[in-house]
Amino acid sequence: MVRAIISPSVLASDFGQLTAECKRMIKNGAEWLHMDVMDGHFVPNITMGAPILSCVSKGIPDIFMDCHMMVAEPEKWVNDIADAGGALYCFHLEATTDPLALINAIHTRNMKAGVAISPDTPSTAITDEVANEADMLLVMTVYPGRGGQKFLDRCVPKVAELRARFPEKDIEVDGGVGPKTIDVCANAGSNVIVAGTAIFNAPNPGEVIQLLKNAVDTAQAKLAPK
Ligand code: DX5
Ligand code: ZN
Repeated sequence: MVRAIISPSVLASDFGQLTAECKRMIKNGAEWLHMDVMDGHFVPNITMGAPILSCVSKGIPDIFMDCHMMVAEPEKWVNDIADAGGALYCFHLEATTDPLALINAIHTRNMKAGVAISPDTPSTAITDEVANEADMLLVMTVYPGRGGQKFLDRCVPKVAELRARFPEKDIEVDGGVGPKTIDVCANAGSNVIVAGTAIFNAPNPGEVIQLLKNAVDTAQAKLAPK
């Protein structure tokens, strides 16, 4: 049985006080922080890179930075993100031609490796070989590039398909996830939950984090083999 992990997306935070915002989330029960790295190539927007992540990890030495690399040529940034204190390096399958070599490079730098798929990429594009080497699979439930978008229900069957193939793997969902959409995600088998606006804009982020966690725990108890 996989466990519930909540990873608030800092894209919805006040970037001017990023370290304080991460501390606020940890105080509210977040286990991971989801750091959205965008390069203006793989997606139109630019957010932050290794120098900023490095400041955050200096300010919070035991932070778990779940780095979502929405970048072209993800091979280029493995060393910089590792040096900046990244704990998990999640690249987009669409952005690389050699996912196995990339996973290997990420592991060599002692980071966990994640493989993300955008809404138009089928779950079958993640081969057994790649998934077995990866530590986490990320099913995007919006098109990568912006926070606050509407959750795409049509991505949910991909979560179920991956959960059926990989019962013990961490499966993350990202995009438009919040109290209204968590149940379909959790019931399909995702256990790592990213939420930006739903957590950061809530009057009580701790309550939302707990609600998301409970939904995963409840679903996992049902999904677990008897
Ligand atoms: C979208 C990012 C997401 C985003 C999620 O490109 O990958 O992590 O911040 O934000 P919400 O939860 O607001 O959809
Ligand atoms: Zn993300």
